Amino acid sequence: MKNLGSMLGIETSCDETAAAVVAPDGKVLSNVLDSQVDVHALYGGVVPELASRRHVETIESIVQLAMTEANVSYHELAAIAVTHGPGLAGALLVGVNFGKALAYSLQIPLVAVNHLKGHLASTWVEHSDFPQSSIMLVVSGGHTHLFYAAGSGHYQLLGKTIDDAAGEAFDKGAKMLGLSYPGGPLIDRLAQAGKPGTVHFPRPYLTRGGLDFSFSGLKTALLYYLRDMKKSNSVMPSIEDLAASYQEAIVDVLVEKSFRAVRKYHAKGIAVVGGVAANSRLRERMTERAQHEKIHVALPSLSLCTDNAVMIAAAGWAQYRLGDIAAWDVDMDLGQASELMYSSACRDNG
Ligand code: KG4
Ligand code: ZN
Repeated sequence: MKNLGSMLGIETSCDETAAAVVAPDGKVLSNVLDSQVDVHALYGGVVPELASRRHVETIESIVQLAMTEANVSYHELAAIAVTHGPGLAGALLVGVNFGKALAYSLQIPLVAVNHLKGHLASTWVEHSDFPQSSIMLVVSGGHTHLFYAAGSGHYQLLGKTIDDAAGEAFDKGAKMLGLSYPGGPLIDRLAQAGKPGTVHFPRPYLTRGGLDFSFSGLKTALLYYLRDMKKSNSVMPSIEDLAASYQEAIVDVLVEKSFRAVRKYHAKGIAVVGGVAANSRLRERMTERAQHEKIHVALPSLSLCTDNAVMIAAAGWAQYRLGDIAAWDVDMDLGQASELMYSSACRDNG
């Protein structure tokens, strides 16, 4: 009975069907994932209807696999944590209803986890010593949010993107460069062989906008650059140099704004989470800067950056301990709750 009272985490907010089991002491007992990248790559982006269908097809076997790999029986679960939003409606419905039905049949508590809180919680899975009073940056396909974390579970929103998320900037830029979906990891790989100073793309909002971000202008700058180069029959830089230059503009803004927040709030640490936290240049620059500023840096390992269910189970444990249990009529939440939770009064526009 060594695993008595574990948390099953379920994540289906976008294009990954994920399940994981985490023990009460935070030990990760399993981490299973079905990626739908191949399904959506054909269309150049996530097709919501196809995502939901694939979740329906795979969720049962993914959850079963997570339980088997963890060597935990259903009766040894303390609770089930499931992502209830934000995300794609049809995709969320699959996980929420599966989790709800399973928890109800086992008569154990269900914990409804906000996807962003899940990404934030991924920090403490591997960095249990990450200090309170830190700055945390969530950078994914759907979010670019900067938080002040008083401690695990207590977050104050300082700023966010006013248009595209950083992951969207990567993916849309990659599409313009003729790369497939999702383009973030491809830009990252190509950029490693390129020179970041080849083309100077704008650093939107770097000197204004407080701690908010904006990436749509950068995307447009790449579009116009490619168009003008073609029109004038100029010799185009290599794809590696273009990728490195474009990536550098995104990374510059993310690093500068994060450390502006670090200084302003006298933060003891910086954490970067979400899919874009897997970016090698961002990891390198954040680490260098944190060392220079002599503060703690926490970057989740790559499998915990992109969507996964370990982070949902970890956030689930924090909520469970606070008695934050969902009612049986809990529904998906398309994002309203997350915005309400971090009221605009908390936003930092200075
Ligand atoms: O967190 P995530 O898996 O899903 C969302 O919650 O959105 O993030 C996916 C995003 C995609 O935009 C993808 O291109 C980006 O993360 N991404 C990367 C890298 N790996 C994933 N962007 C830049 N460099 C990477 N290595
Ligand atoms: Zn995510």
